[in-house]
This record gives sequence, C-alpha cells and structure tokens, in this order.
Amino acid sequence: MELKIFKDYEALSLAASEEIIRVIKTNPAAVLCLATGQSPVLTYQLFVEKIIAENIDLSRCTFIGLDEWVGIPPEMEGSCQHFLQNKIFKPLQIKSSQIHLFNALATDVTEECKRMDRIIEEKGGIDFMLVGVGMNGHIGFNEPGVDINKYAHVIELDETTKAVGQKKYFDKPVNIGKGITLGLQNFLEAGYAVMIANGNKKAPVIKKAMEEEIGTQFPATIMRMHKNSMMMVDEEAASLLDKP
Ligand code: F6R
Repeated sequence: MELKIFKDYEALSLAASEEIIRVIKTNPAAVLCLATGQSPVLTYQLFVEKIIAENIDLSRCTFIGLDEWVGIPPEMEGSCQHFLQNKIFKPLQIKSSQIHLFNALATDVTEECKRMDRIIEEKGGIDFMLVGVGMNGHIGFNEPGVDINKYAHVIELDETTKAVGQKKYFDKPVNIGKGITLGLQNFLEAGYAVMIANGNKKAPVIKKAMEEEIGTQFPATIMRMHKNSMMMVDEEAASLLDKP
C-alpha cells in the first residue's frame, strides 16, 4: 500500500479527483464504486467539474453502490443513494442503466446482496473503489469484527456508526439498526482501492489503520492487505503517524 500525504483537504481532494479521472481515462469502461460521506464531498465536486470541463465520456462506465442504511428510502436526504444521485449522477447525467445501488427497502435483503454480487461478477469485477474510513475503522459498513470472507451482506451497525450516522446525515431521528454493504472480499478483489481521510479527528483512525496488526478488529488495516491500494490523507489526518 502506498501512502500519500497532502497539505490540506483541498490538495487531497484535488489529487483524489484526478485519480478517479486517471482510472477512467485508462479504462473508459471502468466499474467504479464510490463511497459517500463527508470526506469525498470536495473530491466529487472537483471530479464532476473536470468531467464536464473536459467533456470526458462516462457512457461506458458502471457505478456500483458501496453501502446503504437498511430501511431508509432512497429519496431521503441522508441515504447513500440520495448523496450519490445529487453529488455525482444527476450533475453528470449518468444513465440509470449504468448505476447499480443497493435497494435498502428490499423485502429479501439477503437476495439483494446476492443480486449485487451477481452484477459485480457479470461486469467483470470492480476496477476502482474509493472509500472513506469511519471513526471505528469501518470500510463501507464493514464494522469491527466483520467476517473478512464476506461479499455483500447485511450487518448490525456498531453503536459508533449509528450515533455518528444519525448526527451527520439525518435531520430527524431515524431507525438505522442495520447496514447493507459490499464486503471486505469485494474490497480486496477490487483492482485498485483508494482510501481518503482528512482532519484531526481522523488522526487516531489513520494511526491505527497504518500501525495496528492487520485484521478486522480494525477493518481499515485491511487496506494494507490489498494488492493495489493507496491511502491518501491530509497532514492533519497524518499527524499522529510515526515519522520515518
Ligand atoms: C459511506 C461509507 C462509510 C464512510 C465512513 C467515513 O458510503 O461507506 O464507510 O466512508 O463512515 O465517513 P466520512 O467520510 O463522513 O468521515
């Protein structure tokens, strides 16, 4: 795993947006999986601006959802789907046939997970994943202690994820007990994975991700097991790392 440290959030976001564009220019039919959350907001804004300014063709790309809050309707502000639609798909006029997101209202969520895994397989696998990292080290909704062998699955959300999620994404109380997420096997099989993190509050998280023993007790350590991964952080998030 490569580690890149940027001066600030702006520099990190610019580099991350350029990384997505590089992937697409190298493979115009790329299968992309892009996380939601606060960390990538500026990355996606810069990505969208550059795609439009340079008239880059995305018509052959496929977009796969990383995760979703079980039971939260897609149109509700705070859902992952709402975020991706508003920040990426609508501004870039991505066709719905190119987008495959979890249906968090599915009556059979196990079947929904199988459906997503089948889509990924049919598309030949995920080429590029951009993920954030939770305060508990989660990747997607792969919470501490998750089974590393899992592909898409439904998971009981950790207390930290529920508390942070309620506060950060929803303006009224919601019932967010479970998440539906791609698994760490989907992550490990992705051709290339980038994790981004910024700000002082992520400094202890990045320290653990980089220095703790690799294992699902802190899922972000799995980044270091990936065959082709890059950790992109700003100086604040890197501030607790042992200096070389
Ligand atoms: C969101 C997701 C989560 C976030 C993580 C960090 O799709 O999968 O794992 O990436 O919770 O969120 P932020 O970026 O808001 O700190």
